Amino acid sequence: MAHICLVLTAKTIDEDLEIIRDNYDSIDMVELRTDLLDQDQYSQVARFPSLTDLPVILTCRKDSDGGSWKGHERDRTGHLLDWLDGEFSYVDLEMDLENSEIEKKTRSSGIQIIRSFHDFHGVPENLFEIMNSLRGTDVIAKGAVYPRSSEELHRLIDASIKLKKSGKVPFILLGMGDFGFPTRILAEKLGSYLTFCSDSAAPSGAPGHCSASDLSEIYHFRQISDKTTVNSIIGNPVKQSRSPHIHNKGYREKNIDAVYVPFLTDSLPWFMKIADLLTINGSSVTVPFKSEIIPLIDSADKAVKKIGACNTIFRDEKGRWAGTNTDTYGLIKPLLDFLEISDLSGWKVSVIGAGGAARAAVFALQEKGAEVAVFNRTLSRGVELAEELKCRAFALDQSSEKELREYSSVIVQTTNAGMAPLEDINPLKFYPFDGSEVVYDIIYKPEKTLLMKKAREAGCRTLGGYRMLEEQAYLQFRLFTGVEY
Ligand code: ATR
Repeated sequence: MAHICLVLTAKTIDEDLEIIRDNYDSIDMVELRTDLLDQDQYSQVARFPSLTDLPVILTCRKDSDGGSWKGHERDRTGHLLDWLDGEFSYVDLEMDLENSEIEKKTRSSGIQIIRSFHDFHGVPENLFEIMNSLRGTDVIAKGAVYPRSSEELHRLIDASIKLKKSGKVPFILLGMGDFGFPTRILAEKLGSYLTFCSDSAAPSGAPGHCSASDLSEIYHFRQISDKTTVNSIIGNPVKQSRSPHIHNKGYREKNIDAVYVPFLTDSLPWFMKIADLLTINGSSVTVPFKSEIIPLIDSADKAVKKIGACNTIFRDEKGRWAGTNTDTYGLIKPLLDFLEISDLSGWKVSVIGAGGAARAAVFALQEKGAEVAVFNRTLSRGVELAEELKCRAFALDQSSEKELREYSSVIVQTTNAGMAPLEDINPLKFYPFDGSEVVYDIIYKPEKTLLMKKAREAGCRTLGGYRMLEEQAYLQFRLFTGVEY
């Protein structure tokens, strides 16, 4: 089982001990970053391991390896020698540090050496060879590299899997930054001896660290094993997504051995190779890949073909990639529940916007029998959509007030006008509600958009976008796991 190691980044020993207390239940060991301590704390370093019952890694990272030690190398090794009097479990020595005295002292006191290698500029082509050269029966090789692309993440994962297969000697191999994030969650699957994490309130130990609480509360790190199924979300950006919270919570509640991990992606073909390496079972697909993914999958359903957007890929019974669009179901289900009806025959509905979300909305509404009109700021784009999906299109301004009223039994707002950080924009500012309209804004952040507030003031019933987010995720959940959320 990969260990969870909390990196201690405070300026004082007392603060570091407090950070341990705050995270105690979520961690297995700590790394004392002495290079971040105030100098007046140095005299207390050797006794630090006696102040906690967790194993401690002693580290004094020089600035060329991403640390804060700026002093002379002689002083650094001198301090390390003194501090090794303490009952540390491990000491981190950079791969270029050659000091027989330190090595001798370390070995005679039973402290395990971690030989570390850092690359803050990418993932070297020969990563596997570098790691292999650092490995030894009494040495844990450690590599911390900074993937800048999906291709480099693939290289890192590939090297991890090869290392894992090539012997029983432990190693640590982790990716920094947002591209590297999945390797921190999947440490156990990738064979890494441990994963590093930070306290959520303290300065991060390295770029892309997950907090100790997120590792356990969102990703259930300790439940991840070799057998755990990996599902993912791909996008760019992807960090802000709420989907990991929803899916991972569901796995926990339904006792499903799976983990859902965000993959920042800049190349779909490289992600598909990563998905094969990790046998990823299903993935949510978000901006900007919903169209680009279509040629890369083996089959697409009617919704994907019609909308031209795919937000979900999953393996069919033969292990090939199938694509669907759960946004359509996610959008319509809360609306029908809200209206307490099962279809929209005879309803005249307007859709605000003509982007990808609008296309999903028009398709979903039509499937349920609604007559739809699109209102878009750029009329030509609205007309284009209307021609393809066989509906009407109007400009999103005062000139269309009459038409909007005609299609106002439900107004579905799909643009990002009103979404954080554009909270002050109301795309229907020109339109006087008469109170009979149902206004459905698919934005979920903020929970109540300016449009919804204005509609409510006029007596309208309103529905926000959070239920849509949940419903489309629940359907994905069913497709990925075969289990009802
Ligand atoms: P998505 O795929 O999320 O729907 P998109 O394809 O970029 O995103 O489409 C964004 C939609 O929001 C478009 O309909 C856009 O109108 P234009 O076609 O005129 O660009 C609409 N939109 C964005 N900002 C808007 C604003 N401030 N007021 C009104 N409509 C806006």
